[in-house]
Amino acid sequence: MKKITKQIISILSITFLFTSILFSQSKKPEIKAIKAGKLIDTETGRVLNNQIILIEGEKIKAVGADVKIPEGAKVIDLSNATVLPGLIDCHTHITGQSGNRVFGRGGYINPSVVAHLYLMPTLKAGFTSIRSLGSNSFDDVSLKRAIERGLLDGPRIQPASFYISSTGGHGDTSPRNPWVDSKRPPEYTGVADGVDEVRKKVRYLVKMGAGVIKMGASAGVLSVGDSVAAPQYSQEEMNAIVQEAHRLERKVTAHAHGTEAIKMAIKAGVDSIEHGSLIDNEGIRLMKENGVYLVADIYVSDFILSQGKKIGISEQSLAKERIVGKTQRENFQKAVKAGVKIAFGTDAGIFPHGLNARQFSFMTKWGMTPMQSIQAATINAADLFGWKDKVGSIKAEKYADIIAVENDPLKDVKVLENVSFVMKGGKVYKNLQK
Ligand code: ARG
Repeated sequence: MKKITKQIISILSITFLFTSILFSQSKKPEIKAIKAGKLIDTETGRVLNNQIILIEGEKIKAVGADVKIPEGAKVIDLSNATVLPGLIDCHTHITGQSGNRVFGRGGYINPSVVAHLYLMPTLKAGFTSIRSLGSNSFDDVSLKRAIERGLLDGPRIQPASFYISSTGGHGDTSPRNPWVDSKRPPEYTGVADGVDEVRKKVRYLVKMGAGVIKMGASAGVLSVGDSVAAPQYSQEEMNAIVQEAHRLERKVTAHAHGTEAIKMAIKAGVDSIEHGSLIDNEGIRLMKENGVYLVADIYVSDFILSQGKKIGISEQSLAKERIVGKTQRENFQKAVKAGVKIAFGTDAGIFPHGLNARQFSFMTKWGMTPMQSIQAATINAADLFGWKDKVGSIKAEKYADIIAVENDPLKDVKVLENVSFVMKGGKVYKNLQK
């Protein structure tokens, strides 16, 4: 009896050994080799010809003109294309989209149920990493985790979840009517007032999975009942938010249109300013001195002013947009000229996800070279995320987040609106190359 048991055990363990060897062999990451006709080196701002990019699993293994393609590698021929790192949008609202009918006739739809729909249009447009700067829920954290666990396909996400706002501030979306109780528990909003509350809010958001903290430094365009410019936190509150977030190793970005609010946020120590619409020369100087990134959504104004009525934007907000939009672009140009660090961010979600690249031609119209606009959406954005070791350029050890376009984006950045190839983490999501 004992002998039989022993035999069974040894047979079982041999079988186990064989299957695990077989399994480990089949699990060996596939090697891919991309032949890139032109490759944009975002780190140096140069274009390299006829490069081979070797990819093993989800990472880049080697890049160069004389890299040998190993036998059995899957070759992807992009020798007629311009290849560049996956694009990065530092300002999206990935969990929603204006006019998405969740509040339409026929009853309410929980936005969580449809939030995933915006992932693939973003990824297929060539955006392989995004920040989610304000979700009305923790859905952006869930999307990020679902993508990381392979349950969903989509871009890499650095989520802010709720956006920290003062009572009545730009991020306070509850009804302005004391008789209508929104019934949201305070943990399920970004509203926090006073130094103690804002500190606690930062801690809570980080606990729930926020990868970046967004605070409302000034009023806004699309919020109800506020000006565009007025600061919405005291200097002490802004300082506390930044201190707490940095202590917890999270970057902080400030929604700030107003001149004063921008400067207060910079003094508090933020890593980036969103919008920056009414920045003055002193603000520009402070941004430069402190190495703060400007993330100016300079396309969206056209969309708001042309489509706003149709997608339900109030007349009051449209009036604010008419004041802010053009000045924002002029000030963006001044900031570019002064040498302020720029990262690409669009406010996608106000306009349909997937149209993010429309902003490139606005950036070149308002003072940037095509190469600078591409760097803003790759290496600079990666730096702002704190992900410079992972994404933003096509270099060994980084993720194989790679896109291609058929024509030369350095001649006309508009070609980035039609990317023909998208790879994220070594996996091909789009390949229209002939
Ligand atoms: N979320 C921003 C706000 O409501 C959008 C601003 C859009 N307009 C602009 N010119 N950037 O303030």
